[in-house]
Amino acid sequence: MLAPDLAADARILWRLLRGQPKSGGHAERLQAFYAPQADRYDAFRARLLHGRQELIERLDLQPGDRVVELGCGTGSSLARIGERAAQLASFDMVDLCPALLEVARQRAAGHDHVRVIEADATTWQPEQAVDCVFMSYALTMIPDWSRVIANTQAMLAPGGRIGIVDFHLPEDGSRIGNALWRQWFGHDGVHLSAKHLPMLRQMFTERSCAEQRASVPYLPGLRAPYYLFVGERQARLPER
Ligand SMILES: C[S@@+](CC[C@H](N)C(=O)[O-])C[C@H]1O[C@@H](n2cnc3c(N)ncnc32)[C@H](O)[C@@H]1O
Repeated sequence: MLAPDLAADARILWRLLRGQPKSGGHAERLQAFYAPQADRYDAFRARLLHGRQELIERLDLQPGDRVVELGCGTGSSLARIGERAAQLASFDMVDLCPALLEVARQRAAGHDHVRVIEADATTWQPEQAVDCVFMSYALTMIPDWSRVIANTQAMLAPGGRIGIVDFHLPEDGSRIGNALWRQWFGHDGVHLSAKHLPMLRQMFTERSCAEQRASVPYLPGLRAPYYLFVGERQARLPER
């Protein structure tokens, strides 16, 4: 993990306090929000976005798998997948924000079968069905999140896995606690919901699920709720 750099943290915190711009389209707002933070994105998020390595382990990636990450940001999952990445048949990293994708491209250089793709996760589809699609802390940033879940189901081969790690509003969370987190994250365009996990459970066969809490930089004593879900696409999709 990169060492905290207080000056760089102050710059990121200032952006977070200003919040995501309210005007412009979704892609424009992402670019305006992330471009000034792109160089220190990874160092700060390493202390905020927990469970990302655990998700990769839970995905049980196999040599020859075709894998997609939606909302890949700077492509830091490539480091978390590590040596296993070279054995995948393909790894497509998709995001809508050019500033973060620029960092992802630098990371992916030299990995022949890794593609970095600028596209919208609600509509983008790979050329052929894939074995695994995962998302870390992206679903809460996509206003039309249910479309992403449906789009993921459509790109998975029968038996293919979906993996999600993200913040949420837990069923057993207190009303005040949930309201605080909804407000805190919503300012930065991160929309916590109690509906994500039920929809994932409804659309996929659950392989594993864990609900946890973890620290937030510069908010001592507070622990934000997040979940890890791994599911499987059924052999036959129900009629829609
Ligand atoms: C909180 S960041 C997480 C990035 C990365 N997965 C990580 O764990 O560091 C959320 C990401 O979702 C991306 N995103 C938001 N809406 C998107 C969309 N409609 N299509 C693709 N990516 C999107 C953002 O650009 C951003 O990179």
